[in-house]
Amino acid sequence: MVEEAVPEPRPRGVRAVGAVGGAPRPIASVAAGESLRRGTGLGELDRVLGGGLVQGSVVLVGGDPGIGKSTLALQACGALARQGVPVLYVAGEESPEQVRMRADRLGIAETGVLIVAETSADAVADLIEQTRPAAVVVDSIQTLHTAALASAPGSVGQVRESAALLVTRAKASGVACFLIGHVTKEGTLAGPRVLEHLVDTVLYFEGDGAHALRVLRAVKNRFGSTNEVAVFEMGEGGLAEVPNPSAAFLAERPAGAPGSAVLATLEGSRPVLVEIQALVSRSGLAMPRRTTIGLDPGRVALLLAVLEKRMRMPLHDQDVFLNVAGGLRIDEPAADLAVVAAVASSARGRPLADDVVIWGEVGLTGEVRAVGRAESRLREAARQGFRRCVLPASNARGLAAVDGTRAEGVAALDQLFEALALA
Ligand code: TYD
Ligand code: MG
Repeated sequence: MVEEAVPEPRPRGVRAVGAVGGAPRPIASVAAGESLRRGTGLGELDRVLGGGLVQGSVVLVGGDPGIGKSTLALQACGALARQGVPVLYVAGEESPEQVRMRADRLGIAETGVLIVAETSADAVADLIEQTRPAAVVVDSIQTLHTAALASAPGSVGQVRESAALLVTRAKASGVACFLIGHVTKEGTLAGPRVLEHLVDTVLYFEGDGAHALRVLRAVKNRFGSTNEVAVFEMGEGGLAEVPNPSAAFLAERPAGAPGSAVLATLEGSRPVLVEIQALVSRSGLAMPRRTTIGLDPGRVALLLAVLEKRMRMPLHDQDVFLNVAGGLRIDEPAADLAVVAAVASSARGRPLADDVVIWGEVGLTGEVRAVGRAESRLREAARQGFRRCVLPASNARGLAAVDGTRAEGVAALDQLFEALALA
C-alpha cells in the first residue's frame, strides 16, 4: 500500500506547471530554442549529461551505498562554484561538519559552496526560492519528507511526493537539480523506480566497492544520448577522470597465465578492453561450482554447455569460476567468445598469446555470430598496442587491418580453437 497525497483542487483557469495551452500548430513553426547548458567543470560528467548541465533539469544519480555518489556530487558542486556559479548542497544524511571534512579532502572547501542540513522537502523548496542557486544537490532523496503525507520518511509515497515537489520547483525557477538515490541490491532505486519518469536524466554510478574504478552511465536522458559512459577512479583526493579506461582495466593483467583473455566490449558507444579471467579446476562436489562475477550466470552456463557438447570439453566434473577484472559488469553477448577462450585456456592449461583481443557472440550450435561496431573495437585494440583480433567471420569480411592490427575472422568454435592454438 502506497500513501497518496490528495491534491487541493486547482482553481479554474490555473494551469499546471509545464502545461502550456494554445492551438495545435505545425511543429516547424515552433522556435527551436537551444536549452541553456553549462559545463560543470567535470568533463566526463558533462559528457554523460549530453554536453553539460541543462538549466531547470532534474538529474537522478543512483548507485549502491558507498560507491561515491556524494563524492561525485560534491566535486561537481565545487567545480561549478569555482566558476562563480552559486550552488546549494542539501545534506540529509550527513552533518555539515562531515560534509566539510569531505570538502577539505576534495580541496573544494574554499570555493563558496552553500551547505544546509535539511530533510523537509517543503523547506528545501523554499530554500531554492530564497537562495536562488543555479544548481542544487539533494543528498539523498530517501531522507526527504513532506508535510503533505503522514507516512514515514523513506517510504515510496514520501520519496515520490518529495521528488515531485522539487521537480516542479526546479522547472519553475530554472534551477538544475541533482537528486541522489540509493539503489537496493535488487537494483531498484529503493522501491521508487517511480522517480525515473519524473526526472529528465537518470545516471547510475556503478562499480565494485573493492576496486577503485567506477562507471557512470546514463540510462535515461531527455537532453542527450544514453550511450555515453564515463570512467572514474576513486582515490585519496576523490574521483579522478580516467582518460584511457582500457589501459586502466588491463593494468594488472598477468603475462602468460592460462585463463586470461582480453575482450573488446562496448561501454555505451565507447569500445573498452577488459580482461576476462577463468579458472577451471577439478571439483570434489556432486554439483560442481559455477561462479561468475560481472557476467550473467545463465549466459555462462549456456556457453559451458556449448563447449562440452560441441568441443567435447569435459566440464561436468570441473568447478568453473569467471571474473571480469576491474569490477566491470558486462551484459553484451559479444563477450561470449572471450569467455569461451578464457575457459578453454584454463581447462587446457595453455595461455593465450598476449597480443590478441577477442570478441563475438556464440550460438547454441557453436557458430560465431556478428556483433555491432567491429571496426571501432578493432581501432581500440590497435590503439592499445594489440596485434591481432579474433572476431566473427561475418564481421571480419571487408574489415581492413588497422595500423598493422589484423582482423582474423572465425565462423565456429573449432576455428577459434585453431586461431588461439587451443585445439
Ligand atoms: P561516498 O561519496 O560517501 O558514497 P555514497 O554517497 O555513494 O554512499 O563515498 C564513499 C567511499 O568513498 C568511502 O568508502 C570513502 C571513499 N572515498 C575515497 O576513497 N576518497 C575520497 O576522497 C572520498 C571523499 C571518499
Ligand atoms: Mg552519500
